[in-house]
Amino acid sequence: MEKEIPLKTSLEVSRIRKACQLIESLFIELKSLVRPGLSTMEVAELCEGLLRSGGGTSALKGYRGFPASICTSVNNVAAHGIPGSYVLKSGDLVSIDLTVHIDGWHGDGAWTYLLGKGTPDSQRLVKAAWQTTMAGVRAARAGGRLGDVGSAIQKTARRFGCSVLDKFVGHGIGHAMHEEPMVLNFGTVGTGQPIVPGMVFTIEPILCLGKPDVRILTDGWSIVTVDNSSCAQFEQTVAVLGSRTEILTLGSVERALELRLPPFY
Ligand code: MF3
Ligand code: CO
Ligand code: CO
Repeated sequence: MEKEIPLKTSLEVSRIRKACQLIESLFIELKSLVRPGLSTMEVAELCEGLLRSGGGTSALKGYRGFPASICTSVNNVAAHGIPGSYVLKSGDLVSIDLTVHIDGWHGDGAWTYLLGKGTPDSQRLVKAAWQTTMAGVRAARAGGRLGDVGSAIQKTARRFGCSVLDKFVGHGIGHAMHEEPMVLNFGTVGTGQPIVPGMVFTIEPILCLGKPDVRILTDGWSIVTVDNSSCAQFEQTVAVLGSRTEILTLGSVERALELRLPPFY
């Protein structure tokens, strides 16, 4: 039996949108703030300040004992990196994951910033991660199935010669940070849970340049690739609204283009 998916009314979607809009504006601000010379702890402090002034709070702090307000995952860290004393340097890839809570509702998003010019490989990885998430978003339409999303993700990443970390999934979101359904990053078109209006979920494939095998560090949180290859991730929260699917964490792709956000470096 498939577990029940809490569908959202348009009023509830508007609450989630509010949290997601704060995430989008933070990521846009961070583009010029995240620089070599800053420690990941300083990045987290910046984010906390921006969140607070936007009327939100981090839903990550304390979540299952997570010790920080954001995840900062650098280079070979695929996910759940804990902000600390590491000082960012040119060439680093830093993924920032923000889960925001406003008035009982959540939004979730992640962006990867490439500091400096990077290498052809790191540029390809960031571009692949962006395109792969967007391919998943485009496949997330009412009338389709979640397997359509997973299949689009897998195919797009492969086209760029990147691997998808198949142990990680997207998830429904709303009152809780993690709700049904589970959004797998692989699948077959026409299979899996039907996508219906009222669903709100994240699309958040993690890509790496090497093999997708991971292990956990002794801090109990940081997940790294076994071959130490670099990772990148863009997470978007989407709402399925009848005939269209809105990216709640990205008001407008045109705006992203204009701001030369990833992958338009
Ligand atoms: N925001 C993450 C996600 O996309 C969850 C991080 S859980 C934490 O689902 F505990 F590591 F923070
Ligand atoms: Co998420
Ligand atoms: Co997240």
